Amino acid sequence: MTNNNFNPTLDYAKSLDENDSLSSFKKRFYPLENNQIYMDGNSLGLASIDAEKALLRVMEVWKKQGILIWNTDEGYYFNYGKKLGARLAKLIKANSDEVIVTANTTLNIHQIIATFWKPTKQRYKILVDDLNFPTDRYAIDSQIKLKGMQVEDVIKVVSSKDGMFLDEQSIIDAMTEDVAIVLLPSVLYRSAQLLDLDKLTKEAHRRGIIIGFDLCHSIGAVEHDFNLVQPDFAIWCNYKYLSAGPGATAGIYVNRKHFGREIGLAGWFGNSDETQFELKHNFEQAADIKAFQTGTPNMFSMAPLEGILDIYQEAGMDRIRKKSLMLTAYLMYLIDHKLSQWGYSYISQQQDECRGGHVALVHKQAYRICLALKERNFIPDYREPDIIRLAPVALYNTFEEVYLLVEELALIAQDQVWEKYSTHKSIVT
Ligand SMILES: Cc1ncc(COP(=O)(O)O)c(C=O)c1O
Repeated sequence: MTNNNFNPTLDYAKSLDENDSLSSFKKRFYPLENNQIYMDGNSLGLASIDAEKALLRVMEVWKKQGILIWNTDEGYYFNYGKKLGARLAKLIKANSDEVIVTANTTLNIHQIIATFWKPTKQRYKILVDDLNFPTDRYAIDSQIKLKGMQVEDVIKVVSSKDGMFLDEQSIIDAMTEDVAIVLLPSVLYRSAQLLDLDKLTKEAHRRGIIIGFDLCHSIGAVEHDFNLVQPDFAIWCNYKYLSAGPGATAGIYVNRKHFGREIGLAGWFGNSDETQFELKHNFEQAADIKAFQTGTPNMFSMAPLEGILDIYQEAGMDRIRKKSLMLTAYLMYLIDHKLSQWGYSYISQQQDECRGGHVALVHKQAYRICLALKERNFIPDYREPDIIRLAPVALYNTFEEVYLLVEELALIAQDQVWEKYSTHKSIVT
């Protein structure tokens, strides 16, 4: 684990901030009202000046050009999904033509399964885990039903032994001859466990199995090297660490070797450029990643991504990951030193190579502690049954904020402040 010989004083937290080479990026993000301290960038990243400017730029083009927006700058906006994809590809070290920005994560899972899952008598199973975010299962199950097959015949679930972590060897053992495709999360949304994508991909490919990952909890926080890993596909949202805005258009990676594969869900923006505007009724599939688009790109849900990618380009994924690991290691250190006597613990992995960008703090009163934190100007989030997810984000959180958060958590527990809050859950926790 990142070992920084931390010490538990406020001065020390401030000294870490003074030596932080990314500290200048905080000003590029808008502070929340009342200067709330935000620890929820793993759910929805904060708005930045760069994202806003990019959004207004698209608005200007639309205002001034109308329909001609599609031709502006030699078709830049017509190709917006590919253009942004090429820049996003750098974050996962993929080739620039292997990523496109389109639709949302859930729809992209539908697209991927519809495209890659071609069940035969011998190979038809879809391997998943029981800790992934539920939408992945909903999409897969409905794809199975659309083929007239039974979910229980097709789905093979690797179960977690403790409800928090997955055992990679159990996943590999489940890659049997009848498995056609594997979809796993890169980072688990509760425990922040980071799986070894390289090892899992190699083992799947050795057995002739197609494999891909849901990067929702790693994109923008964890470094990936897809030129090394070579998975078959990946999907993710851009609104968490990447801060591209609520409901931002999502990303798909498809390994070049699969270009030309017949697309599962076709639409006119997946047609080849040459014949798209001939508007013929026979679909002529684009030969590249464009095939994975369906309809007209959602420009206003894409533009903020363009802005935030400028920030990522300047900051660099290596520095971002390094600081993120230090922030989470520091948080775990403070939990050990200041919170364990108050009934708090954490379940996140100690080793850097197994940890994503957040820490899962555990307390019996987790839900009510979250309510107390919010009233005291801290924004965490809550996940059933007893987890407070805390995501100090490298681009806009400081070590001092982490320190102040831990102090507040100690005070809440010392005074048992949760007594005054209801256990009744609101819609978004
Ligand atoms: C792992 C994972 N996959 C998918 C989603 C949801 O995807 P979307 O709402 O973009 O379809 C989430 C949302 O939090 C998630 O955590």
